[in-house]
Amino acid sequence: MTGLERLMNRLEILYKKRTPRSFRLFRRAQNVMIQGGSHSLRLLAPYPFFVRRASGPEVVDIDGNVYVDYWQGHYANILGHNPVIPDDPPAGEEPDDPSLHTGFEGEDQVKLAEILIRQAGWKGHKVRFTTSGTLAAMYAVMLACGRTGREEVLKIGGGWHGASPLLLKGIAYDRSLGFTKVESAGVPSAFSKKIHTVRYNDSEGLIRFLRRRGEKIACFILEPYLGAGGFIPADREYLQTAREWTSRLGIVLVFDEIISGFRFAPTGVGRLAGVEPDLATFGKAIGGGHAVAAVMGKTDILECLLPRAGRRTAVRFSGGTYSAHPQYMRAGLRMIRHLARHGPEIYPRIAAMGERLRRGIEDAFAAEGIDARCAGRGNDVIPGSSLFMPHFLRVRHEIREAGDVLDPRRADVRMKEEILRLALLTRSVHVVHGGGAVSAAHREADIDRTIEAYRDVARLLNPAVLG
Ligand SMILES: Cc1ncc(COP(=O)(O)O)c(C=O)c1O
Repeated sequence: MTGLERLMNRLEILYKKRTPRSFRLFRRAQNVMIQGGSHSLRLLAPYPFFVRRASGPEVVDIDGNVYVDYWQGHYANILGHNPVIPDDPPAGEEPDDPSLHTGFEGEDQVKLAEILIRQAGWKGHKVRFTTSGTLAAMYAVMLACGRTGREEVLKIGGGWHGASPLLLKGIAYDRSLGFTKVESAGVPSAFSKKIHTVRYNDSEGLIRFLRRRGEKIACFILEPYLGAGGFIPADREYLQTAREWTSRLGIVLVFDEIISGFRFAPTGVGRLAGVEPDLATFGKAIGGGHAVAAVMGKTDILECLLPRAGRRTAVRFSGGTYSAHPQYMRAGLRMIRHLARHGPEIYPRIAAMGERLRRGIEDAFAAEGIDARCAGRGNDVIPGSSLFMPHFLRVRHEIREAGDVLDPRRADVRMKEEILRLALLTRSVHVVHGGGAVSAAHREADIDRTIEAYRDVARLLNPAVLG
């Protein structure tokens, strides 16, 4: 048994000692739920802890353990768990309590669409709501295909847009296929043949691909800040190149802002970069803790969902039963109003805590002779960032695209995905992919505690100690 295996065993024993009730509940859950839970990222090994309460920066599990949490509802909770947002509607607009689902159109959805478009900063754009980022991205691709009459999709290697059959390719790095592997059984091969991938932040590669195949491509979909692929910002120049070449070739440019929208500023990264996409998807933060996502974009493209005489079949973007649920719209409206009003205080503060964490984590590992690079920083487009994700590179190189951090030959992916998560849990800190998102509810003392926890874990992982 290696030193690392011994350490993992010790950590598992410690975790199990702290979480006996979660263990028993997991056994029950396994009888009735496949894998014992509802989302693969929550189902950590050996079993997940079950959460009883969540407030601000913390969650409390059913055994009474308190964790400082940086997962924060899949990064949706930018104000922390269950924030109390003062409801200060404009004068004369005191609203009724929003109802459960009605299946009718309501006023708050109009207000939320208005403020989203205003904050996104693009004129002549419109919105349609749906209930998940996955659906929003899927509908965006359908709109692009409907609009252009083309069937091929270009995405980024390592880009994640939810598990829609139109986008399930080239997400995790495969040793032999790189970022061209089909990610799921059940996706018709005819679909997956139509999805192509290019490298993030590689303008020349993008131009080469588009010169060769651009006329067949309906849309180029990318995260202007790569999320699950490593927390990597796009260069301004890359976004500009994407805009220029997609316009030239009649390709719909889609910015997936599900993570990046309202994360760094009360707007999207497209706006920060001054690059206007044809369509953008928003989700996570815009729902104020509820299932809200939106496709926003140029009116003439969204109009492809209107049935019109003499045109191709309309794009069936119906949004879903719970689209624009009254309570979700109210929660989203409160959240976006709050972020728009208080952004100048909130964003610099959480970005400063993010930077302190990133430095603290890098220093913690450096002190033990381990080279960790904490991604998540902004760039000349994004002034500051509350995201952090340590990477353990096998050879020092600049982090520019997902392959730099997800190719196991270039980075120790297990360290980030498994070891850090379990080790930090035993120190009362919860992270996913080795890091996460600072929220406005985190306090400087949480950051201190978290850096201390990473230091502790780095000491355990010191090669001299591990043997
Ligand atoms: C960039 C991006 N797009 C789309 C999605 C899918 O969103 P959802 O999980 O709400 O379906 C995610 C989810 O993490 C995401 O990060």
